[in-house]
Amino acid sequence: MSIQTKIHDTADLVAQSAAQTIATLIRKKPNAVIGLATGSTPVKTYAELIHLHRENNLSFAKVTTFNLDEYWGLDGDHNQSYRHFMQDLFFNRIDICTWNTHVPNGKAVDPALEGKSFEAQIRASGGVDLWLLGIGHNGHIAFNEPGSTINSRTRQVDLTQTTIEANTRFFQNQDDVPRKAITAGIATILDARQILLLATGSAKANAIKQALQDQPTSQSPASFLQTHANCTFMLDKEAASQIA
Ligand code: F6R
Repeated sequence: MSIQTKIHDTADLVAQSAAQTIATLIRKKPNAVIGLATGSTPVKTYAELIHLHRENNLSFAKVTTFNLDEYWGLDGDHNQSYRHFMQDLFFNRIDICTWNTHVPNGKAVDPALEGKSFEAQIRASGGVDLWLLGIGHNGHIAFNEPGSTINSRTRQVDLTQTTIEANTRFFQNQDDVPRKAITAGIATILDARQILLLATGSAKANAIKQALQDQPTSQSPASFLQTHANCTFMLDKEAASQIA
């Protein structure tokens, strides 16, 4: 098994190609179960999907979604919560039923129970058909930071200093950035029938090289994707620049 790579000239073309892949799945299977990510990278893909919804009758009415992660301690109404991000940039602009959208609850009383319940909801939906991912500078996928194991499942995690620093841009100051998150695990992601990881920009080039070329290792959580039978990395030229 190996990861397929598709390299496009620009980030816009990556987004168009990713959106087409998702649209093709939904047209074939209107009740598809789709895993989603937040962060900057997929924003253009969501904009493309909104465009396909408005201009090309792509309907999400029967689609179910699961998001990778949520900051621990933030209510879904908080303007930096991942639930808010998804509502604002995607869900409120398409015909998806909110009750079919799942984002881990960052305010759950018991994180272990929330993790189990999230996994149970994925199972009850029939499993994820396609999971859209981004990648952190340190090779994290979702909030599975270096050190995460291939068997990890949805759980509460501590964010690393580099991730806190990378996420500071969205908050007033670094002290406001949550230190913990609830995240789907690597095993949760690997259960998806198809995985599509997007990376754009030269800042991701090293993480992409390690994910593709290192032996699968906890030091580069994205390298565990090499063990998946149907995983594609869609990259722009900059993110692909260190691939041998
Ligand atoms: C977001 C997520 C993270 C991001 C990653 C890259 O739900 O799970 O792993 O995909 O941190 O973030 P951006 O796209 O902002 O560079």
